[in-house]
Amino acid sequence: MNSRIRLDYNNLMTDRLGAYGISQAGLEAAGKAAVQASQWFHARRAAGKMDFFDLPDTPEHLNSCLKLAAKYKGKFDDLVVLGIGGSALGTTAIHSALNPSTYNLQDKKARRGRPRLWVLDNVDPEKLKAVLALLKAKRTLVNLISKSGATAETSAQFLWIRQWLMKDAGKNWSKNMVVTTDPAGGILRQIVDREKLSSLDVPSGVGGRFSVLTPVGLFPLAMAGVDIKSLLEGANQMRKMTLNENPWKNPARLYALTQFLLYQKGCRINVMMSYSDSLYPMTDWFRQLWAESLGKRVNNQNQTVETGPTPVKALGATDQHSQLQLYIEGPRDKAITFLMVEKFRSDITIPRAYPKIADISYLGGKSFGQLLNSEARATALALSKNGRPNCSFLIPEISPRTVGQLVFLLETATAYAGGLFGINPMDQPGVEEGKRYTYGLMGRAGFENRKAEAEKFEAGNSSRYVV
Ligand code: PA5
Repeated sequence: MNSRIRLDYNNLMTDRLGAYGISQAGLEAAGKAAVQASQWFHARRAAGKMDFFDLPDTPEHLNSCLKLAAKYKGKFDDLVVLGIGGSALGTTAIHSALNPSTYNLQDKKARRGRPRLWVLDNVDPEKLKAVLALLKAKRTLVNLISKSGATAETSAQFLWIRQWLMKDAGKNWSKNMVVTTDPAGGILRQIVDREKLSSLDVPSGVGGRFSVLTPVGLFPLAMAGVDIKSLLEGANQMRKMTLNENPWKNPARLYALTQFLLYQKGCRINVMMSYSDSLYPMTDWFRQLWAESLGKRVNNQNQTVETGPTPVKALGATDQHSQLQLYIEGPRDKAITFLMVEKFRSDITIPRAYPKIADISYLGGKSFGQLLNSEARATALALSKNGRPNCSFLIPEISPRTVGQLVFLLETATAYAGGLFGINPMDQPGVEEGKRYTYGLMGRAGFENRKAEAEKFEAGNSSRYVV
């Protein structure tokens, strides 16, 4: 079996979709834009603005994470990750892909002595309390992750969990914490130095949503028993492919280009539909990557463009019974990307029964994997027949290597897409604006004007509540 993931883009093309598709000539003509986007990408890379691209080829982070994970091996029952957005989604995606969905329910032996993993990426007090009620402070390692070190949600979580650790361990609380943050800047780095906390670096040139292959993801994943070496090897395999200037051999470039062309044709919504429960959280991670990177008000010339495709996530076959009707017959504003697994790591044969009832006996002897993949093929066909563009990432089998390939492919495709859209995929001014209002509303010094502005804005709407 092929050990590399493949992009099947047949169902994006005019010979399958008629006028709703992309023609071969159109794709080749757009090749020039793709070459320019690629040149832009590599110029930015040379300027140190695409550092995520060289991560799979940098053993430094792998070594620091393996070393620290080895030091902690067997010492903790639980690992709590505190972080949000790019500091959390990638870990959840890869953990879910590579560890069983029942990982936290398994006993320690089944987990090979690894701690349970809790990624707390929100500040809903009900959930935070419920999770903590299950844990013993002395047996819990906390991995606090924030690139900027200033995100309000993560800072609040830090203060709360620090107090919880102190109650149990007193001054020794710091032994139960590892901080992953910028190597030099930020408040967290100051706290690390002051409290003499164990720490790992998020390389300065790698933004949150592109950071899963840094200690942000590598350390918690190593603690949860993921083979991070093979993960990075898979990413490196894909890195070599994405360096190929031949667009037909470079899946990241082809994916970015086809999605860009479809956007121009009115497909403003990019649905990623996973036909694997394990890969479903990958669609959450991709949603952030695509949305935050490509949704921009201004282009690289500072002109207002208000551009960017809207990523949506879906799960096959479940959402065939929820969303698919809209995708097949609703507005022609969607392009669907399937994640399809060719061989499931384990499968179930459907028992044979009721031989005289043809409407159920046809299933006997087939497997669940076969059923799921037949559903994916049927969905792709139904969409295509109705002129709805769709393509598939075909994953031979879920493994650290293929997951590394997929993650790296999607990161690189997102960066290329930034070049095609003519925007900066690495910043997030809108998110930063929201963060500043939060600081103001929560009384952070220096943000008083934001508080005043928010209060004035809200007061203006006070008469329009329906009670
Ligand atoms: O991709 C991004 O930059 C963001 O989603 C960040 O990851 C998120 O806002 C959290 O930021 P930080 O890691 O600085 O706390």
